[in-house]
Amino acid sequence: MLFALDDAQCQSLAETHGTPCFAYSGAVAEAGFQALRAALPARVRVAYAVKANPHADLLRCFAAQGASFDCASIGELERVEALGLPVGRTFFAGPGKREPELQKALELGVRVQAEGFEDLARIDALATRETAVNLRVHPAFDIDEGNRIIGGSGPSAFGVDEEDVPALLEKAASLTHVRIKGLHVFAASNQRDAAKLKAIHGAVLDLAKRLHEAHGLAFEQIDLGGGLGVPYAPDEAPLDLVGFGHGLSDLLTQHAWFTGELILEPGRFLAGPCGIYLARVVRLKESRGTRFAILEGGINHLIRPLLTGQPFPVKAVGKGEGTVHYTLAGPLCTSLDRLGEVRLPELAAGDLLAFGTAGAYGLNEGMTHFLSHPVPPEVWVAG
Ligand SMILES: Cc1ncc(COP(=O)(O)O)c(C=O)c1O
Repeated sequence: MLFALDDAQCQSLAETHGTPCFAYSGAVAEAGFQALRAALPARVRVAYAVKANPHADLLRCFAAQGASFDCASIGELERVEALGLPVGRTFFAGPGKREPELQKALELGVRVQAEGFEDLARIDALATRETAVNLRVHPAFDIDEGNRIIGGSGPSAFGVDEEDVPALLEKAASLTHVRIKGLHVFAASNQRDAAKLKAIHGAVLDLAKRLHEAHGLAFEQIDLGGGLGVPYAPDEAPLDLVGFGHGLSDLLTQHAWFTGELILEPGRFLAGPCGIYLARVVRLKESRGTRFAILEGGINHLIRPLLTGQPFPVKAVGKGEGTVHYTLAGPLCTSLDRLGEVRLPELAAGDLLAFGTAGAYGLNEGMTHFLSHPVPPEVWVAG
């Protein structure tokens, strides 16, 4: 499902809240979480990646379903804390954690994903008692074919390179409080192929086994990161959740040496489908054979098309399907402000466009401050 809300709902939201605006369907978010949970073996914990969308109602919705959280900044940690959500179930990742952030993580009792020796040493210095951490490893394998977001098997700012783990462990042996009790490897992004996810996660478990056997690391947790994909176009099939769940069950059976829990940190998969972005056409322009529809909002609100080259799905509310080719441009003073090349019905100024699958990496990833347009409201449409 590309659009969480139907045309009547989009129209009514636009009239009530004005445009541009974002809306999130609580029913779709809840159903998505439940479907994922139902497909997973019991030994898999779901930690929602807050970076995908930190909207308070979304966090509350997932927490109510039993989610843990994956945070990547002190701001995200404080947000989870301020909402009164179970912060003790939280993980803290990120390649550049500063000391106050680590201090906060320790105070809250969250599990830190150490990205290198510096994280281990800083935690050791800050901790007053034995502190379990997960070690983030940047693997040598690249099954997601050099995915731009996660960076493939080349050089990376994330984690410790797999080949450098032995040296890191040797150095870490002298630390007093810190104990490596988990492994974190994030090697997929927006992956909708259950077989490929199984191959990636299998490679992570193989790596965990090698580390366990070579260094006696007893992992309580193996964190597989995020990366579960969602469709952004009608011809893209959704992830086969049942197949995905079976894949994880098979891997747990194959890796009987591992008796701890697997962690998944989906962001896009949980937040994406529930979101809609609504913006009206301000004006239409034809320039040297190209028909532009210039909208109220652009990459200040949805920057993903610029970063990945993949547009969000879009519909002209109340107008049905169409075949007119438009270049969608935003109101910013840069030619980078494009939301995609689309086919829509003949448009007129004032028409309402709805962008689907916009719940993840939408407003919070946009260039909201650029040109100081007002920040659009985010409306929670309760289940
Ligand atoms: C450590 C970590 N976990 C989870 C995620 C969420 O990824 P996704 O939205 O692809 O599921 C990210 C995304 O960057 C991440 O860096």
